[in-house]
Amino acid sequence: MSTLKPRLHIDNISPHVRSAQYAVRGELATLSEEYRARLAKGDTDLPFDQVISANIGNPQQLDQKPLTFIRQVLSLVENPKLLDHEDVLLNQLDYKTDVIERAKWLLSKVGSVGAYSASAGVPAIKESIAKFIERRDGFPADPSKIYLSGGASSGVNTLLHVICAGPDTGVLVPIPQYPLYTASLSILNARCVPYNLDEESGWSTDLEIIRASHDKAVAEGTDVRALVIINPGNPTGASLPEDNIRAILAFAAEKNLVVLADEVYQTNVFEGRFHSFKRVLRLLQQENPNKYDHVELASLHSVSKGMIGECGHRGGYFELVGFHPEVEANIYKFVSITLCAPVVGQCVVELMVNPPQPGDPSYEQYNAEYSAIFQGLKERADALHAAFSRMEGVECGPPQGSMYLFPTIRLPPRAAEAAAAEGRSPDEYYCIRLLKATGICVVPGSGFGQKKDTLHFRTTFLAPGTDWVGRIVDFHKKFMDEHR
Ligand SMILES: Cc1ncc(COP(=O)(O)O)c(C=O)c1O
Repeated sequence: MSTLKPRLHIDNISPHVRSAQYAVRGELATLSEEYRARLAKGDTDLPFDQVISANIGNPQQLDQKPLTFIRQVLSLVENPKLLDHEDVLLNQLDYKTDVIERAKWLLSKVGSVGAYSASAGVPAIKESIAKFIERRDGFPADPSKIYLSGGASSGVNTLLHVICAGPDTGVLVPIPQYPLYTASLSILNARCVPYNLDEESGWSTDLEIIRASHDKAVAEGTDVRALVIINPGNPTGASLPEDNIRAILAFAAEKNLVVLADEVYQTNVFEGRFHSFKRVLRLLQQENPNKYDHVELASLHSVSKGMIGECGHRGGYFELVGFHPEVEANIYKFVSITLCAPVVGQCVVELMVNPPQPGDPSYEQYNAEYSAIFQGLKERADALHAAFSRMEGVECGPPQGSMYLFPTIRLPPRAAEAAAAEGRSPDEYYCIRLLKATGICVVPGSGFGQKKDTLHFRTTFLAPGTDWVGRIVDFHKKFMDEHR
C-alpha cells in the first residue's frame, strides 16, 4: 500500500475556493438531502414524512411541470428519427404541426445537438433572441452582441472573469444578494463592495446608499468597476420601478461603472411590470444625447426561472451594450475556451424567446399551461405571505416578483443564546430547527447578507400545496414559546 499522503488537502487547495460561501447549497441543504435519503429507505424516526426543498429556485424538482411545447420540440431535436413518423406524432402522440416545424427549423440551424456549436452560440438562435429583445424593449438588438451561456451562472462567471483584473478590483453587489456574486468574487480574489437594499421601501435600491458604498471603497483604494443589480430580486423578490433603474444608470454613467443586470426573473413579476435595463438605457440615450453613450451594460437571462423552469438544461444568454471591441474579443475568447454552451440548452433558449403565438396550433395549450403556472406561483406566494403576517415577530412585504419571500424574523433573546451555544448565528439556528422539526429547508438570511442586527430567512414559494406553510406556522409558534 502506498504511504504517500494525498497531494491535495484542505490547507493547500486554492484558498479562494475554500473561502467561497454558497449557502443555498450549504449545510442545511446537505442535511435535508440526508433526511430525504433516510425517508426513501423507509426511516420512520423523523418527525415528518417529506422533505420540502424551499431553499433553491428549482421549479421542476418541486413539481412544476415542463411546458409541453418545449419538451415536444426537444424530443425531436434529440431524436430526429421520430420525424420519419410524422403521422404517429400528429395522430397518436398529440404533437402539433408547429412543433414539427420548429424542430425541423432548429435542426436545420443546429445540425446535430450532439455537436459543438459556434462559441457564442448558434447564429440563428442569437437572431431569435435579438428579435425577442426588440419586441420586449422597442429598440433594436444586435445578434452579434449576444452570447449563449450554460445558464446565467456561466454568463456571470465569464463577465466577472473578464472584469476582475486583480485583488483591487471591486464590484458593487446588493445585500442581500444571490450568493453567486460574492462566491465568484471570492474565487476570483476580487473585492465585493456591498450596498444594502432598503427593506422599508420594498427592498428597492437607494442611490445614496450605493454612492456611499462606492465612495468608501474608492477611498480605501478599491478600483470599483462594476455594479450588479438583480431585478426582480433574489432573495428579496423586489421588482424595480423605472425610476430606480434610471437613477442607477445615471450613477453608472457618472462613475463609469459597468452595469451587470441579472434579469433571470423577468417573467416572475406580480406587481407592476418588468423594466429591462437595456430599454431604460436606450431611453436615456435618446433623451440625453452623448451623456449615456459610454455606459457598458451586460444583461443576463435564463431558461431556469419563470414559467419555463428548465434549469437542468442550463440555458441562458447575455447581451452586451457599449463594450470596447477588444474587451468583447476577450469575452469571446473566454467563452470559446469552454467551447460552447450546451446546445440543447441553447434550443430551450430559442423556444423561450420564440414561443407559440395566437393562432399557432400549440398556442392554446402553451398559454393554458403557462398561465396556470403563473397563477399557481402567485397563489402560493400570497398564501405564504398571509401565513407570515399571522406569525409573531415576522414581517414580510407583499410578494412582488421572482420566486422568493424574505421575511424579517425577530427572535426572543434566548434564541440568540441557544444559537451562540451551538456556534451559530440566530437565523441559522432557527432554520436548522425548522428543518429538523418539519423537513422544510429554507436558507438563513446570513447566506445572502443582511443589514446588521437584522435576521431573515429566504423561502421559495414553489412547493405545491399549502400544507407545508401550516407546518412553518406551527413550528414558529413552538419555537417562540420555547425561547421566551
Ligand atoms: C439572481 C439569479 N441569477 C442567476 C441565477 C443562476 O441561474 P442559472 O440557472 O441560469 O444559472 C440564479 C439562480 O437561482 C439567480 O437566482
